[in-house]
Amino acid sequence: MLLGVNIDHVATLRNARGGTEPDVLAAAKICEEYGASSITTHLREDRRHIKDEDVELIRKNIGINLNLEMAVTNEMQSIALRIKPHSVCLVPEKRQEVTTEGGLDVYGQLDKITNFVKPLVEAGIEVSLFIDPTKEQVEASAKTGAQFIEMHTGAYSNAYGTENEQTEFLKLKNSAILAQNLGLRVNAGHGLNYENVHRMHEIDGLYELNIGHSIISKAIFTGLDNAVDQMNFLVTKKRK
Ligand code: PXP
Repeated sequence: MLLGVNIDHVATLRNARGGTEPDVLAAAKICEEYGASSITTHLREDRRHIKDEDVELIRKNIGINLNLEMAVTNEMQSIALRIKPHSVCLVPEKRQEVTTEGGLDVYGQLDKITNFVKPLVEAGIEVSLFIDPTKEQVEASAKTGAQFIEMHTGAYSNAYGTENEQTEFLKLKNSAILAQNLGLRVNAGHGLNYENVHRMHEIDGLYELNIGHSIISKAIFTGLDNAVDQMNFLVTKKRK
């Protein structure tokens, strides 16, 4: 299992003052040095954290994969086709939300998503669909031409340590089995942290975890190098 680091919140902090610090590209390079297999940036419609220039700079200056998280809009599709990240992850986006709240409704928009995925895959970009771990969404995702799903682990993360943990965990595990049987590769992310991430090892074949908030939060106290190194150890069992 690999670790992808979402560095959106480095940009959130930078934008709080409108200057250039902390430097988002420098953060990406530290993640690379300390074992991340990819960098995720979510270019939101409102550009509240990552900006277009960040995506371009990271794309050109890191050796690991860039995973561009984006909404299903024409604007984002053109940007992806121009910048050519290694992969894109399609997410639902609402202006008012603090973070991505739920998964993409692939089942309810099958034709739209299938048409959206096609030119991206044809351009050599891997496409991942960020979905809730349900049979309906997994089966629909397998029909779109996307190669990956990313299972939304928010409900599991919120339930961790409560009586609902196992129920939420089993939704992830069963969805991963179904997805892999349908030929999809499976990532997971949202809300994962240093305490709850260990159970992801109980899900066979998970490819990559995308983790942001907990790593950037820890980095304030320990430095980004340590925060990435520690999480990378929990995910890959390897240290720098
Ligand atoms: N994966 C997706 C699709 C996301 O939208 C997010 C949050 O931006 C993450 C992973 C990372 O979530 P967190 O910041 O809670 O680790």
